[in-house]
Amino acid sequence: MSNTSSFKLVLLGESAVGKSSLVLQFVKQQFDEYRESTIGAAFLTQTVKVEDGSNVKFEIWDTAGQERYKSLAPMYYRGAQCAVVVYDITNYGSLEKAKSWITELQRQADPDIIIAVCGNKSDLAERRAVTSDQVQKMFEGEEGLLFVETSAKSGDGVQALFTVLAEKLHNS
Ligand code: GTP
Ligand code: MG
Repeated sequence: MSNTSSFKLVLLGESAVGKSSLVLQFVKQQFDEYRESTIGAAFLTQTVKVEDGSNVKFEIWDTAGQERYKSLAPMYYRGAQCAVVVYDITNYGSLEKAKSWITELQRQADPDIIIAVCGNKSDLAERRAVTSDQVQKMFEGEEGLLFVETSAKSGDGVQALFTVLAEKLHNS
């Protein structure tokens, strides 16, 4: 019998960057072209196996990115061991929004929170508006952040993102 530990993970980021799509791809290996914008937040769980055979169970809070739900966010990141802050690689403004979420997490969330900065929609490379240099510059001098690119559409990078987080959480 293998042991399982549970971790609370929160997804944050501007509306339409693909937070719910990332979760759907991670949990069900599915993608919808037409997803409805999240109302309030959604809760899902998914378990992954890490290297030593243990299970890591993610308790995922998929928050709503629309501005009117902004004040709810602390309820979801409070007590979270892990945060995925998502931007859309075709939308520079969404990177700036990601930066402001990181600042808020650094001030208000658990000091040991593990944070990944995720550039989503990598399948839309021809419309790219954010380069890795711009990302580096935006988060210059900040330690411990993980940087990844994903496509919730093709699935590229999605399992890898959650596997890296699971290993980090398991070993922390
Ligand atoms: P809120 O719930 O409003 O905060 O938005 P969200 O961040 O959950 O975005 P959602 O997952 O609803 O996706 C918004 C739109 O982007 C949908 O039409 C998705 O189909 C599309 N989308 C999400 N991820 C990708 C991706 O990786 N590639 C492409 N091409 N489209 C994506
Ligand atoms: Mg959503």
